Amino acid sequence: MTENKDLAPQATAKKYFVKTYGCQMNVYDSERIGDALEAEGYVATAEMADADLVLLNTCHIREKAAEKVYSDIGRIKKLKQARAELGKSMTIGVTGCVAQAEGAEIIKRAPVVDLVAGPQTYHKLPELVAKAVRGEKAVETEFEIENKFAKMPAATRAQTRSRGVTAFVTVQEGCDKFCTFCVVPYTRGSETSRSVGQIVDEAKRLADAGVREITLLGQNVNAWHGLGPNDREWGLGELLYKLAEIDGIERLRYMTSHPIDMDEGLIAAHGDLDCLMPYLHLPVQAGSDKILKAMNRHHTRDDYLYLMERMREVRPDIAISGDFIVGFPGETEADFEDTLSLIREVKYASAFSFKYSPRPGTPGAGMADQVPNDVAGERLQRLQALLNEQQLTFNKNCLDQEMDVLLEKPGRREGQLIARSPWLQSVIVDQSTGPIGDIVKVRITEAAPNSLVAVKV
Ligand code: 5AD
Ligand code: SF4
Repeated sequence: MTENKDLAPQATAKKYFVKTYGCQMNVYDSERIGDALEAEGYVATAEMADADLVLLNTCHIREKAAEKVYSDIGRIKKLKQARAELGKSMTIGVTGCVAQAEGAEIIKRAPVVDLVAGPQTYHKLPELVAKAVRGEKAVETEFEIENKFAKMPAATRAQTRSRGVTAFVTVQEGCDKFCTFCVVPYTRGSETSRSVGQIVDEAKRLADAGVREITLLGQNVNAWHGLGPNDREWGLGELLYKLAEIDGIERLRYMTSHPIDMDEGLIAAHGDLDCLMPYLHLPVQAGSDKILKAMNRHHTRDDYLYLMERMREVRPDIAISGDFIVGFPGETEADFEDTLSLIREVKYASAFSFKYSPRPGTPGAGMADQVPNDVAGERLQRLQALLNEQQLTFNKNCLDQEMDVLLEKPGRREGQLIARSPWLQSVIVDQSTGPIGDIVKVRITEAAPNSLVAVKV
């Protein structure tokens, strides 16, 4: 049989494009979805218009995030029509948290969508995609008792192509805390932990593929627990000690944590492990006990401040980051000022802040005393001004300091590299500083709100 040499396999393979919205967990899931599709013979394309299969891996956390998906579907519909005129098809799928929250409703509202798959069903994607490609609508939003990761192919991409020197590993998923503002317990289900074995295997594969820094992910990552050797119950602290032993893994991080799961083992790990970076993302959301209670956060303002004290005892240079919501129902000016004063006490290195967005099905959406939009908007501005000021102060305090940075990727300008500081700052250095993947000592020469500039020492 003669081969048509002009026809490389790539030219005939089906192409896929995944667009990711929302959190790092979705970023990680999108990669695993890619792995699963590639195992079925799909190849990635950088052009959505070129894709036989487009998946939108969506976020439902705030109204804006969810609505963005529908406006994007409107645009993709036109791409699909343009392809149809050329005799080509396009299968459109919605995965992620909007898929879980809205299910088949998505197809009612946007009939161009062929597939809907919630976050706990990705191991079934090959099957679902095949069904959608055949022209049948495919909808799957069941929560499986078995962990989805156990049934998904291993992170093949780590072996087949470079994925950079930093990587995420999901270790925990879901939430049992039921904060009254939040959709996550409904979209991601109850708290589940991956096994020590699965996590260590994945981390080793990543290290072999050149990854130097791993960030452990979970909606409540510090609620992770698993069985260590001799069937002893481990918490996240013990897992970190274990991962720190892997050759090639130089740096560890984890996010996002809940204050009530910051146990002594985990706090101690911050004091003991050099490779555990001095950075903690610990959302508090609000600084008034009344609002914390209404949010069902299970802790007080003082509990949080005490935790901060403990963290700084074991790791005095730790950078604290947080999430804040302004305008939660019932929030008065005095409550809001409690949030500002908490921020002044803690001194954040970075933070994410949001205007409260009532989400269907959550208790908060039905509460009395919803805060008017303009009041919430004005509070958000004041809050962000304070947080920006603190972030700049944190960065300015780094001036003239020497620190170890991980050379991560090419910079925007020719001849530059972007490096990562221990405190998760972006540091711009000259490419002569070293090869990507190295950790080098630099001195900070400039500090801006969102980045630092440094020279090799
Ligand atoms: N409105 C505004 N912000 C929210 N967050 C979660 N739910 C809402 C909501 N309904 C924020 C919280 C959380 C972060 C991921 O998003 O601050 O920590
Ligand atoms: Fe968005 Fe939360 Fe889902 Fe992440 S888990 S995609 S933040 S709704």
